[in-house]
Amino acid sequence: MENLEDKIIQADSLDILEKVRVELFGKKGLLAAEFVKLKDIPGPEKKAFAEGLNKNKVALQKIFDNRYEVLKSEEIEKMLKEEAIDVSLYDALTKKGSLHPVTETMDKIIDYFVALNFAVESGPMVEDDFHNFEALNLPRYHPARDMQDTFYFNDGGLLRTHTSPVQIRTMLECKPPIRMIAPGSVFRRDYDLTHTPMFHQVEGLVVDEKGKISFANLKSILIDFLHTMFGEVDVRFRPSFFPFTEPSAEVDISCIFCEGKGCRVCSHTGWLEVLGCGIVDSNVFEAVGYEDVGGYAFGLGVERFAMLIHQIPDLRSLFEGDIRLLEQFR
Ligand code: PHE
Repeated sequence: MENLEDKIIQADSLDILEKVRVELFGKKGLLAAEFVKLKDIPGPEKKAFAEGLNKNKVALQKIFDNRYEVLKSEEIEKMLKEEAIDVSLYDALTKKGSLHPVTETMDKIIDYFVALNFAVESGPMVEDDFHNFEALNLPRYHPARDMQDTFYFNDGGLLRTHTSPVQIRTMLECKPPIRMIAPGSVFRRDYDLTHTPMFHQVEGLVVDEKGKISFANLKSILIDFLHTMFGEVDVRFRPSFFPFTEPSAEVDISCIFCEGKGCRVCSHTGWLEVLGCGIVDSNVFEAVGYEDVGGYAFGLGVERFAMLIHQIPDLRSLFEGDIRLLEQFR
């Protein structure tokens, strides 16, 4: 019996174990041969002999089953190892991509406002005079048009100089209340360290019944937004002028490079200008046929945010498509 047990335990592959099985449990196997002996056992001892045989058979079967399980799982393990596909094989040949810093910054800005239930609106990049200027309280020959060096087409169309025309389009399409942002590219005839002919803005507009929206609402949301983007900076609102808002303000944060002490980036003022905003001018509501409403609007340049966050000195480098630059933002 011990001898048989060893045979099972020493089988080191499923093939060998199968041979052992036939040898022990097969029709002509060792156990069968033992059972054949039964007929020669004298009557009184038959029962005990048969019981003994059965016990042994059950015990051996159990040992066999255990061994089978062990060998089977070893075999599966081995198969998994040998047949596994090495998906990392071509890793050395491929390069991981990354988001462009402008896209990444844009996404961060959008995420902030979407979390506050702002809808994301869009409009065409080729605009007309009405949506880009006229309806925004910038009539023809208004001197403030010079603030925005415009690319014109021969037919009088133009490349939008800001995302503010999306305010107009949204108000013409929807009834108040409105709570929207409009991210997108805009175009101006400008090219230097901090200006490119194409750049990105995010516009914001909130409109509700007259008396519901105040400058305090605008201030609190923008301060929280700037803290989210730049950390614990000081924020100040400076009176300014935009034709489509009255009163208007430009918003500065304390310089994130010198912490307000004054450096080259902030022109030794300690402040960085990051936003324009204000209470929507009533002439704008009149142009879109809105009555008895009030609201605020703001607009910001995404590249400016990206440059400050990533300390990029030359804005133009963002649009040259040089992979060596982009790789630094992985
Ligand atoms: N449209 C303005 C610009 O491009 C920014 C702005 C938007 C200012 C909304 C006030 C309100 O400079």
